[in-house]
Amino acid sequence: MMTKKSEATLKFEGKEITLPVIIGTEGDKGLDISQMRKETGLVTIDPGFVNTASCFSQITYIDGEKGILRYRGIPINELVEKVAFVDVAYLLVHGTLPTEKERMDFSSLLNRNSLLHEDMRHFFDSFPQGAHPMHILSTMVNAMAAFYPSVDVSTTARDIERSCARVISIVRTIAAFAYKKSIGEPIVYPRHDLSYCANFLNMMFDSPVRPYHISPEAVRLLNVLFIVHADHEQNCSTTAVRAIGSAQVNLYATIAAGISALSGPLHGGANQAVIEQLRMIYNDGDIDKFIRKAKDKNDPFRLMGFGHRVYKAYDPRAEIVRNECEKYLTATGINDPLLDLARKIEDTVRKDSYFIDRHLYPNVDFYTGILYRAMGIPENMFTVMFALARLPGWVAHWREMISDSTKIVRPRQIYVGRTQQEVGNELDSRSPALLI
Ligand code: ACO
Repeated sequence: MMTKKSEATLKFEGKEITLPVIIGTEGDKGLDISQMRKETGLVTIDPGFVNTASCFSQITYIDGEKGILRYRGIPINELVEKVAFVDVAYLLVHGTLPTEKERMDFSSLLNRNSLLHEDMRHFFDSFPQGAHPMHILSTMVNAMAAFYPSVDVSTTARDIERSCARVISIVRTIAAFAYKKSIGEPIVYPRHDLSYCANFLNMMFDSPVRPYHISPEAVRLLNVLFIVHADHEQNCSTTAVRAIGSAQVNLYATIAAGISALSGPLHGGANQAVIEQLRMIYNDGDIDKFIRKAKDKNDPFRLMGFGHRVYKAYDPRAEIVRNECEKYLTATGINDPLLDLARKIEDTVRKDSYFIDRHLYPNVDFYTGILYRAMGIPENMFTVMFALARLPGWVAHWREMISDSTKIVRPRQIYVGRTQQEVGNELDSRSPALLI
């Protein structure tokens, strides 16, 4: 696994200490600073954790410079071509692809745990019309702790297994129920005879007056989209899951934290933001104006769906989604002007030195929205789709975290506020009204 191969020397205020360098299985090198403060009084400063490895992990490997993404050692392209999302979920959570028997057992566990507690159905009535499904999702998942046995570090392996399957399976049911509620249609229950993705599509689109025909192509596509989103090592939401979970919070509250983090437009919320932005650019008609805005340091505008903290090459997921998008729209004869616009923007910025110098390529979110639109998924459900797909990743990281007996996540800071003040001085400096 990991090895301690060499050391680095740190000189500070006349003192010299050696720090171990840990080398990962793919050659990543990390300076182990855990003893540094004790020996020198120094902490490290790294806002946004841009250069901090927060844990050791065996789940996902990314080489951002080469555009490589592997789950448990298997390249993302192979997984997309050869297996279904449920296999990938098993792979992430258990470490290997399932045998036929393991697959059957896992699928049946997901099936048995797909029903939402009936009393929780009433919760949907309390959300205001127009509530964002991501907010509904995080609230509902948090509430699961009140309806299902609590799962934390002390739970037995069998119960952990069941609860992980429950959370992966039920979130899909909650998502579809939230959608049905938002359009005022009766909810559709999960069916035992349908595969994971087919079941979700059926819960979303079946209706008593308009039976849904489950298209094998839509099911295949959803499997691809879910697989490419299933994990991405220590991204913002996974870091939230690990951080919250490290306080030994129950699994549901932990996953709810991941969902909340994912909803932000700089993270999973970008897929919805991309479509909104593409529509705005389309309506305006002046692509160059928006590219200029994106490059202007005095303008907060950013080209959504571009750039990534880790990838400094083309995001391999974006490549897969772009190809699927082209294929699906051609096969279904859908003519989406936003796809033409997206291609045009990509072609333009990839020749632009601002984007070239900063290694800004399309990320996974740039083309997913167009594909979801073509599949009939409403825009406010785009980030929910991402959350469903990311469930196995969050669960895998939570399990890895609790089995590593990691310390509670608790970074340090450099205090830059006022030095000690006296109450009298403080009060004197306020306006007389505040003193009353
Ligand atoms: N448009 C214009 N300029 C950009 C963009 C963008 N989309 N992304 C980064 N830049 C510029 C920054 O202004 C910065 O320029 P500077 O060096 O001159 O100051 C440089 O590129 C580096 O950007 P940072 O913000 O430092 O990169 P960071 O790693 O912190 O942020 C992030 C990554 C949040 C993804 C960023 O690229 C971004 O905001 N992209 C748009 C939102 C988006 O698509 N998010 C989805 C990410 S993928 C996911 O979560 C699934």
